[in-house]
Amino acid sequence: MRREAMKLWRGGLLATLAGDSGWGLIPDGALLVDDAGRLAWVGPSAEAPAAAEVVELQGALVTPGLVDCHTHLVYGGNRAHEFEQRLQGVSYADIARAGGGIKSTVAATRAAGEAELLASAQRRARALLAEGVTTLEVKSGYGLEAATEARMLRVARQLGALGVDVRTTFLGAHALPAEFTDAQAYIDAVCAWLPELHAAGLVDAVDAFCEHLAFSPAQVACVFEAARRLGLPVKLHAEQLSDQGGAALAARYGALSCDHLEYLSPSGVQAMAAAGTVAVLLPGAFYALRETKLPPIDALRAAGVPMALATDHNPGSSPTLSPLLMLNMACVLFGLTPEEALRGLTVNGARALGLHERGQLVAGQRADFCIWAAGHPRELAACFGHNPLIERVCQAEQAPQ
Ligand code: NIG
Ligand code: FE
Repeated sequence: MRREAMKLWRGGLLATLAGDSGWGLIPDGALLVDDAGRLAWVGPSAEAPAAAEVVELQGALVTPGLVDCHTHLVYGGNRAHEFEQRLQGVSYADIARAGGGIKSTVAATRAAGEAELLASAQRRARALLAEGVTTLEVKSGYGLEAATEARMLRVARQLGALGVDVRTTFLGAHALPAEFTDAQAYIDAVCAWLPELHAAGLVDAVDAFCEHLAFSPAQVACVFEAARRLGLPVKLHAEQLSDQGGAALAARYGALSCDHLEYLSPSGVQAMAAAGTVAVLLPGAFYALRETKLPPIDALRAAGVPMALATDHNPGSSPTLSPLLMLNMACVLFGLTPEEALRGLTVNGARALGLHERGQLVAGQRADFCIWAAGHPRELAACFGHNPLIERVCQAEQAPQ
């Protein structure tokens, strides 16, 4: 260890989230960051090793950096008119069947150039970063043709220059585009695009939307087979509007996560538990669609399925850019404890992306962390419409602006 190159942060209340439960609080704690951007040491300030550079935290709260593990951040246009339609009683599914919904965003995204997509996605990403996001997943799925899917993924990658670690997910199987009438023919096309997108370094994981208004489990299985041939991990939008048995299918493919899950069955819970698949809860979509069926939180908890939390930012079902609001909503709407909610946006969000070297403030982990004006981590979930972030420390390098 080259101590002289290290930076010490001391005098803060650390919420380390070490281990599988508990806040892991260290009052008057310190963090030592090495020159490789890892946490070299974490503990009480009084026992901290010497370092060349020292930052006084002055009692501020320190948590792991936030991981937003499910977003659709890159797209053209917006769908605020659908918000008005839904307020009039038209459902999300009705809007989709009438050609609105995902398909209307596909039209706007296909029409947008790369620079335009990048500029709007950067604006949204900055909002997430301003609330402490240090790792950001971004899905494709508004192109539904090879060129536009690739454009979306390239834009997603470029968001990393803002100083955030970006993970890209290919979601070609999001909806059936207008030029196809045969869903299986479209699925075959999606599977055919994947090797090239992967070879271009644009794909970290593969996702699909398993739903009556999207794709069947058999069709999703074709996409998962294509992912498996390339050694890519899979995830699934599962049981959002109905129980399709998607979670059990995803579990058979060792999925990193199943996301939404309002209609998840007891056997789906068991399959996820056995496979070690993370449940990604998306209270923003639950809220915006005025869903009344709750995801089976007690069953997930009892089965030991790790629960993550994300914004699901998209222009239709979850147009939020506030991970902090998700903490509050997860507690108020879904009954998570504030500690479960924060674990969901940190360590379990990271696991939902297959990342095990971040999300906790323990030695050896990546030194991504947030400094907050708060006296206890539960305040992050208790407050809403309020951003107490003081500073975000992220090892992803920010490109010169
Ligand atoms: O996660 N469920 C499907 N996909 C998105 C919604 C996309 C959209 O409405 O544009 C979701 O909710
Ligand atoms: Fe989604």
